[in-house]
Amino acid sequence: MGFQIGNRRYIGSKKALVPWIVDNIPARHLTGTFFDAFAGTGIVSNAVAGKFQTLILNDLLYSNYSIYKGFFGTEDFDLNKLRPLIQIANNGVPAENYFGNSFGGKYFSHHDANLIGELRSQIDILFPDESDRHRQIAIASLLYSADRSAITVGHYEAYLKTGKNRPFSFDLIDPLIADVEVFREDANSLAKRIKSDVVYLDPPYNSRQYSRFYHVLETLTKWDEPELFGVALKPKPENLSDYSRSAAADSLADLVANLEAKFILISYNNTYNSKSSSSQNKITLDQIEEISHLKGKTNIVEKPHKHFNSGKTSFADHREYLFTIEVEN
Ligand SMILES: C[S@@+](CC[C@H](N)C(=O)[O-])C[C@H]1O[C@@H](n2cnc3c(N)ncnc32)[C@H](O)[C@@H]1O
Repeated sequence: MGFQIGNRRYIGSKKALVPWIVDNIPARHLTGTFFDAFAGTGIVSNAVAGKFQTLILNDLLYSNYSIYKGFFGTEDFDLNKLRPLIQIANNGVPAENYFGNSFGGKYFSHHDANLIGELRSQIDILFPDESDRHRQIAIASLLYSADRSAITVGHYEAYLKTGKNRPFSFDLIDPLIADVEVFREDANSLAKRIKSDVVYLDPPYNSRQYSRFYHVLETLTKWDEPELFGVALKPKPENLSDYSRSAAADSLADLVANLEAKFILISYNNTYNSKSSSSQNKITLDQIEEISHLKGKTNIVEKPHKHFNSGKTSFADHREYLFTIEVEN
């Protein structure tokens, strides 16, 4: 069995909370189109795939876009076509390349980083057509395989100087047949063009930018060989989210006001109510409550929850909230 969509470490992933979230969608709303506007790993969409006719997944990150395109689609695919990549991974003695020179001996062993780079170049040669599902399955498989062997605590804010990696092996994802539309856009601009039945909102709530946390996976996906800076070897900032800035509450208010849907779920947690200012929440519970009430009849459920965070933040009294809104208008 290959990688399942939830087989990755991702900050803010709702993996452990998925059944609770799905249970809070009333049966009468389990139909039509489900719009996952900040889809992250895509695990929430994956859980409702059999319950809705169409899924719409969106996220700002290039790597997440490729992962959704790899895991979900209605196009035929033949995993045998990816065999040449497995052969390279098993037999290849990789040549020096950008990925090895940049990240070898840091986020990965030198050999593994060169092998990951070589596989990525081969994907461009074997599957040059952007719309070929095999290309996205190959990229998603490489992202999951590389991430599993990274010498990190689960994100690319830093590598572990004394850490050892799990030796890299190239394994495939298990793609699904599902009717999806996939976007890589700012949720606020996309929401103005999308009509759906149920919307799930799970934005970031602190100043830490996902494009900075997952820059190595972004670079591997885009394969544009950017110049890298600092100890963490990050490219120049790009793809920054307004949800991690002081205007976050205004962005959420604008987004919710523009949503054309019947039922909305919003996840919120106090995971980052920590001493460090970069970790403090940008939107308060009271603000979300106010934004939700303006849209419709709101219900709030909560439960204690320990998040994957892997940073310095302490985990006292973490609570997960779910706002559900029956849209009125
Ligand atoms: C808390 S995570 C979502 C986790 C997801 N529900 C899961 O279970 O894996 C927030 C996501 O929002 C994305 N994001 C941040 N700002 C965005 C924006 N303005 N538009 C779209 N996506 C955004 C981030 O890249 C990140 O993947």
